[in-house]
Amino acid sequence: MPNFSNPLAPTWLDASVDVNALVPGVWADSVARDGSGEITVGGVTVTELAHRFSTPLYVVDEDHAKARARRVREAFDAALSKVGSTAKVYYAGKAFLCTEVVRWVVDAGMYVDVASGGELAVALAAGIDPARIGFHGNNKSIAEIERAVAVGVGTIVVDSDWEIERVADAARSAGRRQRVRLRVNSGVHANTHDFLATAHEDQKFGITIADAPAIVAEIRLHPELDFVGVHCHIGSQIFGTAGFAESASRLVALHAALSEVAPVPELNLGGGFGIAYKPGDAPTDIETIADEIASAVASQCAAHNIPVPVMAFEPGRAVIGTSTFTLYSVGTTKEVTLDVEGASATRLYVSVDGGMSDNARPALYGADYHVRLANRISPEPAQLVRVAGKHCESGDIVVNADYLPADVEPGDLLAVAATGAYCWSLSSNYNYLARPAVVAVSGSEARVIVRGETEADLLARDAGINGGNK
Ligand SMILES: Cc1ncc(COP(=O)(O)O)c(C=O)c1O
Repeated sequence: MPNFSNPLAPTWLDASVDVNALVPGVWADSVARDGSGEITVGGVTVTELAHRFSTPLYVVDEDHAKARARRVREAFDAALSKVGSTAKVYYAGKAFLCTEVVRWVVDAGMYVDVASGGELAVALAAGIDPARIGFHGNNKSIAEIERAVAVGVGTIVVDSDWEIERVADAARSAGRRQRVRLRVNSGVHANTHDFLATAHEDQKFGITIADAPAIVAEIRLHPELDFVGVHCHIGSQIFGTAGFAESASRLVALHAALSEVAPVPELNLGGGFGIAYKPGDAPTDIETIADEIASAVASQCAAHNIPVPVMAFEPGRAVIGTSTFTLYSVGTTKEVTLDVEGASATRLYVSVDGGMSDNARPALYGADYHVRLANRISPEPAQLVRVAGKHCESGDIVVNADYLPADVEPGDLLAVAATGAYCWSLSSNYNYLARPAVVAVSGSEARVIVRGETEADLLARDAGINGGNK
């Protein structure tokens, strides 16, 4: 019998969801089961993908990613045009960046936000117009700033007063005038369902609203710098709009005060728009978010008697998150039976061939994921499982709790949904595991967009091999 009242299951886990079903919204658009019950993406079966590219494997539904990029960009364009302004939508590259993805998002009309010299190098290697790049970071090195200015990035987001002189010096040497934003800490911090509004934020990013006018005045004293507006980012995986509305209200008040001194053309409210990671997650759709932010900004601007500025946004996860699943092979299983308040309850540990090295989020933030048996369906009852990785770390969990058919066994393939954002980009070589490949699938064709690492890659930087590196 299905273990529907397993006391080890978290309360949010809905045991009535069909254990073979692919719940829409969590999976990419083209993910389906074929006649034999196997999961396919873009018309390609998971066994073919595993056979050709091995597991673990990040599998991207290319059409889904492109469509999401377009939809997110169009949502903000439409919302801002309703209030008489325009939008610039930056894809937050930290979510997942490679040259192919840069081209997809730029083709969809987006800009790209990078947060390090390495991310900048990827964006430039993709061949995009540097003017479409925004450069972030609370501790950019002088070399990073010089390179960003020299190549002509569109905006640099100044994160502290230290950076004013550094960016100005670089601009002077390059003979350029550099557009800059100032990252402000709005005091609103949001995470999924809740937001906190405080006077001062105890965090490393940005400067307080109270300090902003003096810093902007300092920026304006530099003829090499062109101040385009303030920026804030209130958090990640946010489902509602209240936190955005609150920070918009605070930022528009600051924007209005700065506009009294000289025109301020833009206002950037960052990213953080949530996605569904598992059945039952219900993030607000991007059109509603865009409309509500635009109308909150417009009403605040009306109250301050200023025009609605050009609005910039920086979605990462909302663009790429649901485009991708990670495919793993099952190696071992183990049932544990525990006594929970006098009743016995079982959980099946299912160990796969990856883990915290390809998805650090469960270990890092306690993030929850959703898993499905991928190479077949099964009529067996649902069994509470915990999908564990292969690392020497008991916190090496990929899916903390979900149901799988009770006959899941070694050799099966598992697909873990919504791993497009902050999985590959946070991946590591812990235990000297090779980082998996990323494969994009479209029109029944699968191709590698980032190759997986090999043992030779793992050994390449070890100076003790072959007499050491010269
Ligand atoms: C400044 C900034 N912008 C945008 C983002 C993207 O956030 P998300 O992927 O949640 O949309 C982040 C994420 O940390 C960020 O720090």
